[in-house]
Amino acid sequence: MVAGSSAVLAGLGGWLPPRVVGNAELAARLDTSDEWIRSRTGIAERRVVDDGMSTVDMSVAAGGRALRSAGVDRVGAVVLATATPDQPCPASAPQVASRLGQGEAAAFDVNAVCSGFVYALATAAGLIAARVVRDVLVVGADAFTTLLDPDDRGTVPIFGDGAGAVVLRAGDPGEPGAFGPFDLHSDGDQAELLIVPAGGSRQPRPVEPRDRYLRMEGQAVFRHATTRMAESSRAVLDELGWTVGEVDRFVGHQANVRILSTVAKQLGLPADGLVVNIDRTGNTSAASIPLALVDGVRDGSLRPGDRVLLAAFGAGFTWGATGLRWPDLDVDPL
Ligand code: UT7
Repeated sequence: MVAGSSAVLAGLGGWLPPRVVGNAELAARLDTSDEWIRSRTGIAERRVVDDGMSTVDMSVAAGGRALRSAGVDRVGAVVLATATPDQPCPASAPQVASRLGQGEAAAFDVNAVCSGFVYALATAAGLIAARVVRDVLVVGADAFTTLLDPDDRGTVPIFGDGAGAVVLRAGDPGEPGAFGPFDLHSDGDQAELLIVPAGGSRQPRPVEPRDRYLRMEGQAVFRHATTRMAESSRAVLDELGWTVGEVDRFVGHQANVRILSTVAKQLGLPADGLVVNIDRTGNTSAASIPLALVDGVRDGSLRPGDRVLLAAFGAGFTWGATGLRWPDLDVDPL
């Protein structure tokens, strides 16, 4: 890459809705238990939006913190990774940009569900490499609980809501914080394994009432997620020329702590190299990696100079990975 064309991490912020839903609250109304949820997923509690709170609201809160962390007021573009926009049309990113005082900055959504943040990072890096803009606010935000059947014990304990954001600026490939390479893939033949059947052009109104809710084949998704995140991670390590032993921290999409430890085992990474915050957030879809980054900085597990690998997997299916050397950032707590 030529000088000035790399995307460099310059700011980071996250935000969680104030309402905490613990496992005991779910066990009181669903056929489940705190013990089952903790042992099968690693989740103790998740945050849930109140009525009237939306993906844009959360994105504005997280985006404002990321801009403050970067020490900038304005960026050239806002890229929002989400599968839960405020409305089916238009995209939500322009509303986020306006509410953050970004004037007429370019703004659009990227929908790669739980892989959305990695896809949005790659998209933003492309905008910088093509010299369309010099800096980008990338937000990963989802109000995934709004897609859940409240009576489904297979999905309600798993998901939570939240938003995380980063500011990327044009810089040099050798700098701390320079992202890349990116490895991105998809397999649309598996779409049915993790899907909201209604609400789009195929089935605008639900044929069955439950068609408007998320449907998940948990075990199959688990298997694909572990294999694909490990594959993508290996591809990025090869491109970077890093050995597994040189990776200081692995920040994977927080879908299930057992998925993260299986990926670590497949790669040969030590379990203490994992950054994990799913116990307090649940699976927040596109927000999960930036929220884990915020917690990783705050608890001291991400330090300047660390070699950090990021990997995600989500509905679609989509998956991807990237890496960077951790820069020195000031980050507000969640
Ligand atoms: O973000 C990307 C998308 N999502 C994911 O990556 C999620 C991937 N999948 C998973 O994380 C796991 O498959 C789940 C956490 C969803 C489920 O865990 P599992 O270990 O695969 O459980 P299972 O579906 O194999 O079910 C095991 C047992 C079953 O009972 P029997 O047949 O053994 O008697 C289920 O009926 O657990 C039962 N079960 C529950 N029990 C209590 C399923 N859900 C629950 C529940 N509480 N909530």
